[in-house]
Amino acid sequence: MDDPGACRRFKATIEVLVRPCLERDLPALEWMGLYTRQRDIIREAFNAQERGDALLLLGVSAGFPVGQVWIDFARKRAEGIAYLWAVRTFYPLQGSGIGRHMMDAAEAALRERGIVRAELGVERDNDSALRFYEKLGWRVVGPLQERFSYRSDGSEAAIEHLDQWLMAKPIL
Ligand SMILES: CC(C)(COP(=O)(O)OP(=O)(O)OC[C@H]1O[C@@H](n2cnc3c(N)ncnc32)[C@H](O)[C@@H]1OP(=O)(O)O)[C@@H](O)C(=O)NCCC(=O)NCCS
Repeated sequence: MDDPGACRRFKATIEVLVRPCLERDLPALEWMGLYTRQRDIIREAFNAQERGDALLLLGVSAGFPVGQVWIDFARKRAEGIAYLWAVRTFYPLQGSGIGRHMMDAAEAALRERGIVRAELGVERDNDSALRFYEKLGWRVVGPLQERFSYRSDGSEAAIEHLDQWLMAKPIL
């Protein structure tokens, strides 16, 4: 107990249900303001799921999405590749196994659809995520540069340049 005044330490367990995103989950996907600026992106991804072009897998605990993995089927459909993104675990719960379960569930969903290869992009300076993916059998296959802009409800358009590694994994 390093923090001054701390008087007790204990571990808590939570139950997490993995399921596709429902429309009613959308506000909670903003994670209490962290992703509010990406509201339009979240809505657009949900619309893609409604069209059958995506699957937004959520790990839900007490109604709150504590883990996420989104799968884009459209981006590389011609090559038979599914593209994963928005892989994230709610901050206080990182390191407790949620990410591994979410990635496992995503792979199972791909297998069910007969998809044999998955890819994702990880920012080059995100060593922690890189190690996480490598531990789960993903390998870097090359560089990936991306640029995207987004705007939410009257806010100024934000432009992000992403300098990433492209990672891939065969789905067996
Ligand atoms: C990366 C992230 C999704 C991992 O999710 P998580 O729930 O924390 O991961 P888990 O607890 O399920 O860990 C799964 C395995 O990866 C390992 N792992 C996780 N983070 C690691 C790290 N920084 N270094 C080394 N191994 C790591 C764990 O030890 C565990 O291995 P084990 O099952 O053999 O013990 C999560 O840390 C996160 O949301 N990070 C911020 C957002 C982000 O960077 N997303 C990736 C964008 S590309």
